[in-house]
Amino acid sequence: MTAEQVRRAHKVHPITAVQFEYSLWRREVEADLLRTLRELGIALVGWSPLGSGFLTGTVTSLNKDDFRQNNPRYAGENLALNRDRFMPFMAIAKELGVTPAQLALAWLLHQGQDIFPIPGTRRAERVEENAKATDIRLTPELLKRINELARHGLAEGATLV
Ligand SMILES: NC(=O)c1ccc[n+]([C@@H]2O[C@H](COP(=O)([O-])OP(=O)(O)OC[C@H]3O[C@@H](n4cnc5c(N)ncnc54)[C@H](OP(=O)(O)O)[C@@H]3O)[C@@H](O)[C@H]2O)c1
Repeated sequence: MTAEQVRRAHKVHPITAVQFEYSLWRREVEADLLRTLRELGIALVGWSPLGSGFLTGTVTSLNKDDFRQNNPRYAGENLALNRDRFMPFMAIAKELGVTPAQLALAWLLHQGQDIFPIPGTRRAERVEENAKATDIRLTPELLKRINELARHGLAEGATLV
């Protein structure tokens, strides 16, 4: 949805939270919508906070029947291209002794107390791994570094929404 749609809906009935994709490789929400949500006191529930798995650094190829084949960021040569481009991010996670998934979630949690990432997994141990992201403290210098290296526009492939 757009900022304008949220404004219109909020006038009809107060909105508490809006769900929109938000992650280090999908930062479109920062351009306009997030500003409006903050102005109106509405929380942001960030879906696919791990880039549907990409930001965990564990996706090297996709099976033919994997639904992510439909995502331009995974399609064709883009997956390999994006893996190269996000190498510095993976390197920071290694440097900090955390997993890329944890760093991706920690970065989101540092964007404000009004941001609620909802990572998905089918594995209990990953729920535990991901939950530990709440213990990670990122310094302003580190946040700046991550923001610069994973700037909006870095990922190859059009947005789905
Ligand atoms: N509102 C909407 O339009 C919308 C759209 C999409 C999604 N969502 C919601 O957003 C939530 C999450 O989205 P999502 O599941 O698409 O994306 P995600 O959370 O960005 O990524 C999930 C993927 O990452 C893998 N993963 C999770 N933790 C991992 C870890 N620690 N290490 C390695 N791999 C890991 C999962 O694989 P395994 O399962 O194998 O662990 C899964 O393939 C869901 O609740 C979903 O319903 C909402």
